[in-house]
Amino acid sequence: MAGAPTLEVLPDAAAVARRAAELFLRDGRDAVGARGSFAVTLSGGSTPRALYLLLADEPYVSSVPWSRVRVFWGDERCVAPGDAASNYRLAQETFLNTVPLPPTRVHRLRGEAADPEQAAREYEALLRAQAREAGTVPGGVPRMDLILLGMGADGHTASLFPYRQTLRETRRLVVVDDIPGVGRRLTVTLPLLKSARHIVFAAVGQEKAAAVAEVLQGPWDPRRLPAQGVVPRFGRLTWLIDRAAAECLQPRV
Ligand code: 6PG
Repeated sequence: MAGAPTLEVLPDAAAVARRAAELFLRDGRDAVGARGSFAVTLSGGSTPRALYLLLADEPYVSSVPWSRVRVFWGDERCVAPGDAASNYRLAQETFLNTVPLPPTRVHRLRGEAADPEQAAREYEALLRAQAREAGTVPGGVPRMDLILLGMGADGHTASLFPYRQTLRETRRLVVVDDIPGVGRRLTVTLPLLKSARHIVFAAVGQEKAAAVAEVLQGPWDPRRLPAQGVVPRFGRLTWLIDRAAAECLQPRV
C-alpha cells in the first residue's frame, strides 16, 4: 500500500520546475539502473513548460539517460500535433526537439485521429505492450516509472474532469471524453495513473490554492476532485507547489 504523499512547498514556479527536473533525473537514473529503461508520462497545460525547458538545458540535457527514456502522455487534446493546444507540441518545442531521445521512443497520443476511440484503443495496446519492459502491478497494468501531472482549479487532472464517467473506469487504460466547455480529449484513466512507481503533481499560482487545499486536506471526494483520487497503489506520490498555491493550506499541527 502506498505511503502518505510528500508535499514540497517551494518559493515560486521556477523553483517548482527545478525540483521537478531534479526528480525527473533521479527517477530516470534509478529506473535505467534497475530495469534498463525509464518510462515517463508527460502532462500538458502551461505549468510543465518551465520544467520541459530545463530538461533541454544543462545539467539535464547531458545527464538524463535519454537513449533509455520512453515518453508517453497522460492526455491530449483532439487536435493536430502542430496545433498550439497540443500537449505533444508543447513537449516537442520545449525539449523533445533538443534532447538526444530517439523519436521511436516518443509515443504520442494521436489527437488528430478521425476516430479518437480507435486512437485510444491503439494507445492502450501500446501501453500494455510496455508490460515486459516496464513491469506491471497485480492485474497486469503496466507501471510507468514517473507520471507528471498538473491540476486545474476545478481539481481535474490529465483530462479526468469532475463527475465524469471516465472517473469510474476500472478496466480501460485510455478513453475519449467530450467534456462540456472543454472539448474532446484523449486521457489515461485512474488504473494507469495509480499503477505508477512515482506520481508527481506540480501546481503553481494562487488560482490553484483552493483546490490544492481541498485535495490535500479536505474530505475524500474524488468524483468532485479527480486529482484527489490519484493515489498510487504501490508507488510514491509527490506534490510540488509554490507558496501561492499553498495559501489555503492549514498549518500541520
Ligand atoms: C491538459 C493537462 C491538464 C493540466 C491542468 C492544469 O491537457 O491541460 O493535462 O490536466 O495539467 O489543466 O493546467 P495548467 O498547468 O495550464 O494550469
